[in-house]
Amino acid sequence: MDLYGVMGNPIEHSRSPKIHALFAEQTRQDITYEKIFVPINGFKEAVEQFKQRGGKGLNVTLPFKQDAFDLADSTSEFAKQAGAVNTLTINPSGEIVGENTDGIGLVRDLLVNQKIKIQDKAILLIGAGGAARGVIGPLLKQQPTLLHVTNRTEEKAHELKFLFHQFGSISSSGLSDIPNIKFDIVINATSASLNQNIPAISPTLISPHCFFYDMVYGNELTLFLQWVKGLGAQHYVDGKGMLLEQAAESFFIWRGVRPNTALIKDKVFE
Ligand code: ATR
Repeated sequence: MDLYGVMGNPIEHSRSPKIHALFAEQTRQDITYEKIFVPINGFKEAVEQFKQRGGKGLNVTLPFKQDAFDLADSTSEFAKQAGAVNTLTINPSGEIVGENTDGIGLVRDLLVNQKIKIQDKAILLIGAGGAARGVIGPLLKQQPTLLHVTNRTEEKAHELKFLFHQFGSISSSGLSDIPNIKFDIVINATSASLNQNIPAISPTLISPHCFFYDMVYGNELTLFLQWVKGLGAQHYVDGKGMLLEQAAESFFIWRGVRPNTALIKDKVFE
Protein backbone atom coordinates (compact mmCIF):
# COMPACT_ATOMS: atom_id res chain seq x y z
CA MET A 1 0.00 0.00 0.00
CA ASP A 2 1.36 3.42 -0.94
CA LEU A 3 1.42 6.05 1.80
CA TYR A 4 0.04 9.58 1.44
CA GLY A 5 -1.05 12.22 3.92
CA VAL A 6 -2.01 15.77 4.73
CA MET A 7 0.05 18.03 6.99
CA GLY A 8 -1.28 21.09 8.77
CA ASN A 9 -1.75 22.87 12.09
CA PRO A 10 -4.56 22.55 13.02
CA ILE A 11 -5.47 19.42 11.06
CA GLU A 12 -8.20 17.77 13.12
CA HIS A 13 -11.08 18.92 10.92
CA SER A 14 -9.44 18.22 7.56
CA ARG A 15 -11.73 16.39 5.14
CA SER A 16 -8.81 15.32 2.95
CA PRO A 17 -8.44 11.79 4.45
CA LYS A 18 -12.10 11.08 3.77
CA ILE A 19 -11.95 12.56 0.26
CA HIS A 20 -8.85 10.58 -0.72
CA ALA A 21 -10.21 7.37 0.80
CA LEU A 22 -13.32 7.77 -1.35
CA PHE A 23 -11.22 8.58 -4.44
CA ALA A 24 -9.11 5.47 -3.81
CA GLU A 25 -12.16 3.27 -3.40
CA GLN A 26 -13.74 4.69 -6.55
CA THR A 27 -10.62 4.27 -8.71
CA ARG A 28 -9.49 1.02 -7.04
CA GLN A 29 -6.15 2.42 -5.91
CA ASP A 30 -4.41 0.73 -3.01
CA ILE A 31 -3.37 3.65 -0.80
CA THR A 32 -3.44 4.83 2.79
CA TYR A 33 -3.84 8.52 3.57
CA GLU A 34 -3.02 9.96 7.00
CA LYS A 35 -3.80 13.14 8.85
CA ILE A 36 -0.54 14.52 10.26
CA PHE A 37 -0.40 17.28 12.89
CA VAL A 38 2.83 19.25 12.56
CA PRO A 39 4.28 21.64 15.17
CA ILE A 40 4.63 25.20 13.84
CA ASN A 41 8.42 25.00 13.43
CA GLY A 42 8.55 21.33 12.58
CA PHE A 43 7.51 21.11 8.93
CA LYS A 44 10.87 20.16 7.41
CA GLU A 45 11.46 17.48 10.04
CA ALA A 46 7.96 16.06 9.60
CA VAL A 47 8.42 15.75 5.83
CA GLU A 48 11.78 14.06 6.34
CA GLN A 49 10.22 11.52 8.73
CA PHE A 50 7.39 10.90 6.28
CA LYS A 51 9.94 10.34 3.53
CA GLN A 52 11.86 7.87 5.73
CA ARG A 53 8.64 5.90 6.16
CA GLY A 54 8.38 5.55 2.39
CA GLY A 55 5.66 8.19 1.96
CA LYS A 56 4.86 9.00 -1.67
CA GLY A 57 2.93 12.25 -1.50
CA LEU A 58 1.59 14.95 0.80
CA ASN A 59 -1.08 17.56 0.78
CA VAL A 60 -0.04 20.64 2.67
CA THR A 61 -2.44 23.05 4.30
CA LEU A 62 -2.22 26.13 6.53
CA PRO A 63 0.18 27.38 7.72
CA PHE A 64 2.79 25.38 5.80
CA LYS A 65 2.14 26.12 2.12
CA GLN A 66 5.09 28.50 1.87
CA ASP A 67 7.35 26.15 3.84
CA ALA A 68 6.42 23.44 1.34
CA PHE A 69 7.33 25.77 -1.51
CA ASP A 70 10.74 26.46 0.07
CA LEU A 71 11.35 22.79 0.81
CA ALA A 72 10.52 21.36 -2.63
CA ASP A 73 13.46 20.51 -4.91
CA SER A 74 11.47 21.70 -7.91
CA THR A 75 8.12 23.45 -8.31
CA SER A 76 5.48 23.83 -11.01
CA GLU A 77 4.69 27.09 -12.78
CA PHE A 78 1.45 27.62 -10.82
CA ALA A 79 3.27 26.93 -7.53
CA LYS A 80 5.89 29.54 -8.43
CA GLN A 81 3.19 32.07 -9.28
CA ALA A 82 1.35 31.34 -6.04
CA GLY A 83 4.56 31.27 -3.98
CA ALA A 84 2.92 28.32 -2.26
CA VAL A 85 2.64 24.54 -2.58
CA ASN A 86 -0.29 22.36 -1.52
CA THR A 87 0.87 19.10 -3.12
CA LEU A 88 4.24 17.41 -2.65
CA THR A 89 5.26 14.33 -4.58
CA ILE A 90 8.20 12.27 -3.36
CA ASN A 91 9.76 10.60 -6.38
CA PRO A 92 11.51 7.20 -6.14
CA SER A 93 14.87 9.03 -6.34
CA GLY A 94 13.89 11.01 -3.22
CA GLU A 95 13.37 14.24 -5.14
CA ILE A 96 10.46 16.32 -3.79
CA VAL A 97 8.28 18.03 -6.40
CA GLY A 98 5.94 20.84 -5.33
CA GLU A 99 2.73 21.80 -7.08
CA ASN A 100 -0.27 23.97 -6.32
CA THR A 101 -3.67 22.58 -7.28
CA ASP A 102 -5.86 25.20 -5.52
CA GLY A 103 -6.32 27.42 -8.57
CA ILE A 104 -6.80 24.46 -10.91
CA GLY A 105 -9.43 23.23 -8.44
CA LEU A 106 -11.33 26.52 -8.63
CA VAL A 107 -11.10 26.66 -12.42
CA ARG A 108 -12.29 23.06 -12.81
CA ASP A 109 -15.19 23.65 -10.43
CA LEU A 110 -16.26 26.70 -12.46
CA LEU A 111 -15.78 25.16 -15.91
CA VAL A 112 -16.74 21.51 -15.38
CA ASN A 113 -19.19 21.47 -12.45
CA GLN A 114 -20.81 24.90 -12.64
CA LYS A 115 -20.55 25.13 -16.46
CA ILE A 116 -19.34 28.72 -16.18
CA LYS A 117 -17.15 30.01 -19.03
CA ILE A 118 -14.14 32.05 -17.94
CA GLN A 119 -12.71 32.98 -21.34
CA ASP A 120 -13.80 36.48 -22.42
CA LYS A 121 -15.53 37.11 -19.08
CA ALA A 122 -14.86 39.91 -16.59
CA ILE A 123 -13.88 38.64 -13.13
CA LEU A 124 -13.81 40.48 -9.82
CA LEU A 125 -11.52 38.83 -7.27
CA ILE A 126 -11.97 40.11 -3.71
CA GLY A 127 -8.96 39.61 -1.45
CA ALA A 128 -5.20 39.67 -1.90
CA GLY A 129 -3.92 37.12 0.63
CA GLY A 130 -2.61 33.62 -0.03
CA ALA A 131 -5.99 32.30 -1.14
CA ALA A 132 -6.34 34.99 -3.82
CA ARG A 133 -2.75 34.73 -5.00
CA GLY A 134 -3.10 30.97 -5.45
CA VAL A 135 -5.90 31.25 -8.00
CA ILE A 136 -4.82 34.21 -10.16
CA GLY A 137 -2.44 32.30 -12.46
CA PRO A 138 -4.91 29.52 -13.34
CA LEU A 139 -7.74 32.08 -13.81
CA LEU A 140 -5.64 34.25 -16.16
CA LYS A 141 -4.68 31.16 -18.14
CA GLN A 142 -8.36 30.87 -19.11
CA GLN A 143 -8.05 34.29 -20.77
CA PRO A 144 -10.77 36.37 -19.12
CA THR A 145 -11.19 39.85 -20.67
CA LEU A 146 -10.23 41.24 -17.29
CA LEU A 147 -9.36 40.05 -13.80
CA HIS A 148 -9.82 42.89 -11.34
CA VAL A 149 -8.27 42.32 -7.90
CA THR A 150 -9.68 44.38 -5.06
CA ASN A 151 -8.57 44.38 -1.45
CA ARG A 152 -9.25 46.16 1.83
CA THR A 153 -5.54 46.98 2.02
CA GLU A 154 -5.27 48.47 -1.45
CA GLU A 155 -1.50 48.19 -1.71
CA LYS A 156 -1.66 44.38 -1.60
CA ALA A 157 -4.01 44.34 -4.60
CA HIS A 158 -1.55 46.49 -6.55
CA GLU A 159 1.30 44.15 -5.60
CA LEU A 160 -0.60 41.21 -7.07
CA LYS A 161 -1.29 43.17 -10.24
CA PHE A 162 2.42 43.90 -10.55
CA LEU A 163 3.28 40.24 -9.93
CA PHE A 164 0.82 38.85 -12.49
CA HIS A 165 0.48 41.48 -15.25
CA GLN A 166 2.73 39.50 -17.56
CA PHE A 167 0.25 36.58 -17.51
CA GLY A 168 -2.89 38.37 -18.66
CA SER A 169 -5.28 41.27 -18.33
CA ILE A 170 -5.28 42.27 -14.65
CA SER A 171 -6.15 45.47 -12.79
CA SER A 172 -6.37 46.40 -9.10
CA SER A 173 -8.00 48.75 -6.61
CA GLY A 174 -9.21 49.19 -3.06
CA LEU A 175 -12.70 48.00 -2.10
CA SER A 176 -14.27 51.45 -2.49
CA ASP A 177 -13.02 52.24 -5.99
CA ILE A 178 -13.79 49.12 -7.97
CA PRO A 179 -14.38 50.18 -11.61
CA ASN A 180 -17.98 50.28 -12.76
CA ILE A 181 -17.76 47.26 -15.05
CA LYS A 182 -20.41 44.61 -15.64
CA PHE A 183 -18.57 41.74 -13.91
CA ASP A 184 -19.62 38.22 -14.95
CA ILE A 185 -17.95 36.35 -12.08
CA VAL A 186 -17.29 37.64 -8.55
CA ILE A 187 -15.03 35.54 -6.32
CA ASN A 188 -14.68 36.09 -2.58
CA ALA A 189 -11.16 35.05 -1.56
CA THR A 190 -11.11 36.97 1.73
CA SER A 191 -11.09 35.46 5.19
CA ALA A 192 -13.69 38.03 6.33
CA SER A 193 -16.26 35.35 7.15
CA LEU A 194 -13.95 33.87 9.80
CA ASN A 195 -14.77 37.01 11.79
CA GLN A 196 -18.42 37.04 10.79
CA ASN A 197 -17.77 39.86 8.30
CA ILE A 198 -18.30 40.45 4.63
CA PRO A 199 -15.95 42.53 2.46
CA ALA A 200 -17.28 46.09 2.12
CA ILE A 201 -17.94 46.20 -1.62
CA SER A 202 -20.72 48.32 -3.09
CA PRO A 203 -24.12 46.56 -3.33
CA THR A 204 -24.43 48.08 -6.83
CA LEU A 205 -21.95 45.40 -7.98
CA ILE A 206 -24.45 42.65 -7.19
CA SER A 207 -26.47 41.96 -10.31
CA PRO A 208 -28.73 38.99 -11.07
CA HIS A 209 -26.80 37.93 -14.21
CA CYS A 210 -23.55 37.62 -12.27
CA PHE A 211 -22.10 34.35 -10.88
CA PHE A 212 -20.87 34.54 -7.28
CA TYR A 213 -18.26 32.19 -5.86
CA ASP A 214 -17.22 32.03 -2.21
CA MET A 215 -13.96 30.13 -1.70
CA VAL A 216 -14.98 29.25 1.85
CA TYR A 217 -17.81 26.88 2.70
CA GLY A 218 -19.87 25.69 5.62
CA ASN A 219 -22.96 23.69 6.44
CA GLU A 220 -25.06 26.81 5.93
CA LEU A 221 -24.90 29.29 3.08
CA THR A 222 -21.84 31.49 3.75
CA LEU A 223 -22.32 35.02 5.04
CA PHE A 224 -21.11 36.51 1.75
CA LEU A 225 -23.51 34.38 -0.29
CA GLN A 226 -26.39 35.19 2.06
CA TRP A 227 -25.61 38.86 1.45
CA VAL A 228 -25.52 38.62 -2.37
CA LYS A 229 -28.65 36.46 -2.36
CA GLY A 230 -30.44 39.10 -0.32
CA LEU A 231 -29.45 41.66 -2.96
CA GLY A 232 -30.98 39.62 -5.77
CA ALA A 233 -28.12 37.35 -6.92
CA GLN A 234 -29.44 34.19 -8.56
CA HIS A 235 -26.30 32.21 -9.27
CA TYR A 236 -23.96 31.46 -6.39
CA VAL A 237 -21.92 28.60 -4.99
CA ASP A 238 -19.53 28.01 -2.09
CA GLY A 239 -16.05 26.46 -2.08
CA LYS A 240 -16.96 22.80 -1.57
CA GLY A 241 -16.41 22.06 -5.25
CA MET A 242 -13.03 23.75 -5.19
CA LEU A 243 -11.98 21.64 -2.20
CA LEU A 244 -12.94 18.44 -4.01
CA GLU A 245 -11.35 19.45 -7.30
CA GLN A 246 -8.01 20.50 -5.78
CA ALA A 247 -7.94 17.12 -4.04
CA ALA A 248 -8.80 15.33 -7.29
CA GLU A 249 -5.97 17.13 -9.05
CA SER A 250 -3.50 16.02 -6.34
CA PHE A 251 -4.79 12.47 -6.64
CA PHE A 252 -4.35 12.65 -10.40
CA ILE A 253 -0.77 13.90 -10.03
CA TRP A 254 0.06 10.99 -7.69
CA ARG A 255 -1.91 8.14 -9.22
CA GLY A 256 -2.47 9.12 -12.86
CA VAL A 257 -6.23 8.56 -12.65
CA ARG A 258 -8.85 11.27 -12.30
CA PRO A 259 -11.59 10.53 -9.78
CA ASN A 260 -15.18 11.62 -10.37
CA THR A 261 -15.85 14.24 -7.67
CA ALA A 262 -19.61 14.46 -8.32
CA LEU A 263 -20.06 10.84 -7.21
CA ILE A 264 -18.55 11.44 -3.77
CA LYS A 265 -19.66 15.01 -2.97
CA ASP A 266 -22.66 14.03 -0.85
CA LYS A 267 -20.64 11.51 1.15
CA VAL A 268 -17.89 14.04 1.94
CA PHE A 269 -20.27 16.73 3.19
CA GLU A 270 -22.97 14.56 4.76
P1 ATR B 1 -5.58 33.73 3.11
O1 ATR B 1 -4.31 32.99 2.98
O2 ATR B 1 -6.76 32.91 3.56
O3 ATR B 1 -5.90 34.53 1.88
P2 ATR B 1 -4.57 36.06 4.46
O4 ATR B 1 -3.29 36.03 3.72
O5 ATR B 1 -4.58 36.41 5.91
O6 ATR B 1 -5.35 34.70 4.36
O7 ATR B 1 -5.54 37.09 3.68
C1 ATR B 1 -6.82 37.35 4.12
C2 ATR B 1 -7.52 38.22 3.08
O8 ATR B 1 -8.85 38.50 3.53
C3 ATR B 1 -6.87 39.56 2.85
O9 ATR B 1 -7.09 39.98 1.52
C4 ATR B 1 -7.64 40.44 3.84
O10 ATR B 1 -7.60 41.81 3.55
P3 ATR B 1 -6.34 42.73 4.07
O11 ATR B 1 -5.21 42.43 3.15
O12 ATR B 1 -6.82 44.11 3.99
O13 ATR B 1 -6.08 42.27 5.49
C5 ATR B 1 -9.02 39.90 3.63
N1 ATR B 1 -9.94 40.20 4.73
C6 ATR B 1 -9.97 39.67 5.96
N2 ATR B 1 -10.97 40.19 6.69
C7 ATR B 1 -11.60 41.08 5.89
C8 ATR B 1 -12.72 41.95 6.06
N3 ATR B 1 -13.40 42.01 7.21
N4 ATR B 1 -13.08 42.72 5.01
C9 ATR B 1 -12.41 42.69 3.85
N5 ATR B 1 -11.33 41.88 3.63
C10 ATR B 1 -10.93 41.10 4.64
